[in-house]
Amino acid sequence: MYTSRIAGIGHYVPDNVVTNADLEKMMDTSDEWIVERTGIKERRWIDPSTGDLPSTMGTKAAQIAIEKAGLTPDDIDFIVFATLSPDYYFPGPGVQVQDQLGIKEIGALDVRNQCSGFVYGLSVADQFIKTGMYRNILVIGSEYHSGGLEKTTRGRNVTVIFGDGAGAVVLQRGEDGKGILSTHLHSEGKHAEELALIGPATSRWVDQIMSENDESDTSYFPYMNGNFVFKHAVTRFSEAIIEAAAANNVQPADINLLIPHQANLRITQFIQRKMGLSDDQVYNNIQRYGNTTAASIPIALSEAHMEGRIKDGDLICLAAFGSGFTWASALIKW
Ligand code: ACO
Repeated sequence: MYTSRIAGIGHYVPDNVVTNADLEKMMDTSDEWIVERTGIKERRWIDPSTGDLPSTMGTKAAQIAIEKAGLTPDDIDFIVFATLSPDYYFPGPGVQVQDQLGIKEIGALDVRNQCSGFVYGLSVADQFIKTGMYRNILVIGSEYHSGGLEKTTRGRNVTVIFGDGAGAVVLQRGEDGKGILSTHLHSEGKHAEELALIGPATSRWVDQIMSENDESDTSYFPYMNGNFVFKHAVTRFSEAIIEAAAANNVQPADINLLIPHQANLRITQFIQRKMGLSDDQVYNNIQRYGNTTAASIPIALSEAHMEGRIKDGDLICLAAFGSGFTWASALIKW
């Protein structure tokens, strides 16, 4: 069996910065409320005039990752694209990245696992590499939340949290024992509707929504049962980290850097305390980007790497929890 290592990382975020003060002009909220409950100070929201979309942002992040890996697009054997906000209902954006990068007709797979999407995608790619099927796989997480948020007081509990952006890695065959040590994937579908965007989709199609013409219908905006999500998140994040450590005969305290899905700074701080980790052992950038769902881990990984927070031989733990519910972790020896 081969091992798989992250050979290149890149990220792209839209230029348009939306501060909490900007949100105060759209809805009844305050910088104080948002910072106290979530830690978020600003986020990037796509300016539609730029033409940025999940596929184009993913492609930009991928181009950086490919270059940093010392490769060209033609070296890529497979694409895994994680998003909950695809450009189209179908097809998914994996094929658009194949086209935008001008790569030969390789396979492209779309992953629908929301906040856990990037770790799920990484796990899929890891299996393809370990079995020898592929050498270089692009794993992308990209989200365009801002276009679908309800930017009024009614939607404020969700809208203030989410941001747009993309991150990507090139996962590459390695033979030196370094790289992804293990991945761990879970789901609990009975809570699917606690954090979801229900319609329009086949269970509640466009013509039904339009024929009802019901102003109180919010089914086409994201719904989140915040307290319920918080309670499950802190439990499942912790379990995922402990599981990854145990599978590799280490303790959570041995992790050099935990890069959690940037869900909410209060969730991450809770986990940090529960795991007994120091500030140096946990990476946060939600303050500047908000929650970018499938993109949050690769963006954070990219920034942590650029800031010199990841060194050769370090144990890096990625952990995520989100809509589904799904949760996942990966332990990596850098
Ligand atoms: N600005 C001002 N007031 C607000 C806002 C806002 N943006 N949003 C809600 N409020 C109000 C509510 O209307 C409510 O007012 P009321 O008491 O008069 O009815 C009050 O604040 C408290 O509302 P709650 O929803 O109970 O707020 P809570 O204290 O639970 O905080 C939050 C909300 C931050 C979302 C919290 O539930 C939380 O942290 N949840 C975790 C979920 C999370 O962060 N998910 C991230 C995305 S999912 C993921 O990535 C896993």
